Amino acid sequence: MLAVIGGTGVDKFPGLELERRQVVQTPYGLPSSPLLYGRYQGKQVVFLARHGSSHSIPPHQINYRANIWALQKIGVQRIFSLAAVGAINAEMKNADLVIPDQLIDYTWGRQHTFFEAPDKPVTHIDFSQPYCPEFSADLLRVAKDNHIVAHPQAVYAVTQGPRLETSAEINRLERDGCDIVGMTAMPEAVLAKELGLCYASCAIIANPAAGRGDGESIDMEAIEAYVAQGLSQAQALLVAYLAQSDNG
Ligand code: HPA
Repeated sequence: MLAVIGGTGVDKFPGLELERRQVVQTPYGLPSSPLLYGRYQGKQVVFLARHGSSHSIPPHQINYRANIWALQKIGVQRIFSLAAVGAINAEMKNADLVIPDQLIDYTWGRQHTFFEAPDKPVTHIDFSQPYCPEFSADLLRVAKDNHIVAHPQAVYAVTQGPRLETSAEINRLERDGCDIVGMTAMPEAVLAKELGLCYASCAIIANPAAGRGDGESIDMEAIEAYVAQGLSQAQALLVAYLAQSDNG
């Protein structure tokens, strides 16, 4: 089964024909929201609102372990993660879609592993490919076949938030090789990897990163407006992907 995790601007999933909701208890507490099971264009999907059903959980307080554990528990194999991001790379414009293939983790203090219980052996998982290459390639192929424009191969800088970055921080992220900046890909991606789930992301450019726009400050309203614009393309991508998948 495919799960969609919705980020900023995607607390509900338009077009999902809701069949049932499930509150899943996990050893880590409750996920950000109930799981919404339904059909999207006739195909089975489950939706989780990363920031909660009413967008009240900031990135550093999301219970990433409960979210990923719950999805694995119900039999999810692939996660399509939607994320609003700022653009560092000038080629990436507002409302564009990006399928990142790498990330750099600048977060701190988040619960970021399942391998720390006294009864679990110390485990160092391979994370050289933070995003599932097969799923990402499927998404890029489907995008191309359906004339949906999506940037391949981007490095996602994951910052702690909830504040946005300083211009100097963005300059540093650019020197580090980052193309986009957001706050939630970690520890989400690594936790999915630890549980053997195939995790890919569709990032939507919501704003030029700090210091990169026309000098205006970045505001939430504009972010949400561009996410809404990009979301229609992200949904078209998801529909096209589901149409060619064997998801029930
Ligand atoms: N920085 C970090 N996270 C974000 C941004 C940004 O500019 N825009 C949307 N999420």
